[in-house]
Amino acid sequence: MKEIYSEEQWIEWIDTLAEQDYVCIDNFLPEETYSLIEAFFNEQDENERFKKAAIGALADKKIVSEIRGDYTYWIDRKRDESLSPYFDLVDETIAKLNRFCYLSLAGYEFHLTYYPPGSFYKKHVDQFKGRRNRMISMIIYFNEDWKPGDGGELKMYKPEGEELVNPIRNRCVLFRSETVEHEVLETLTGRKSVTGWLLYQPSGVGYILATS
Ligand code: OGA
Ligand code: NI
Repeated sequence: MKEIYSEEQWIEWIDTLAEQDYVCIDNFLPEETYSLIEAFFNEQDENERFKKAAIGALADKKIVSEIRGDYTYWIDRKRDESLSPYFDLVDETIAKLNRFCYLSLAGYEFHLTYYPPGSFYKKHVDQFKGRRNRMISMIIYFNEDWKPGDGGELKMYKPEGEELVNPIRNRCVLFRSETVEHEVLETLTGRKSVTGWLLYQPSGVGYILATS
């Protein structure tokens, strides 16, 4: 498989991730891949496939709008064949993190995410209670014309202080799922992304547990 990014490039990003627990990578997806997944997003949206997101797995699962107001659609490499260039880049990311960050990542789970105007996701970490396999959170935004004042910033709580990440078009954010507390500030416009987690072990049933 042809890799998209050089080793030097990966090392630079991974160094930043190791140092500050997160890294922002702008223009991450090749344009063709970006168009493909964005078109796929719009198609699922038109077909009303998105569902109100829940919190926690299995018995813990409940819809708590005071905590999060987003809608999700879980994607799957086998079923959603047209997304393979996207999943190939996820595989590349996993391979490089394993190599240069000494992580034992062996799987992933991803959903498309839509935050309607007025929605948010309160401060949290990305680990379900009783599950420990989410190692790295990976988000890419599809907000074509995001501008200051639109809201929906990703707020990162770091020991040194708080940092805001603007959810701009084709920006990828990687951060440690277990340690980095974060929040999605109220968005005033529709906010689109693909959100996922690189897993310590293949959970196999991960997306089924977390869905619907
Ligand atoms: C999440 C999350 C952040 C974002 O889905 O768990 O924190 O910027 N998303 O969408
Ligand atoms: Ni989160």
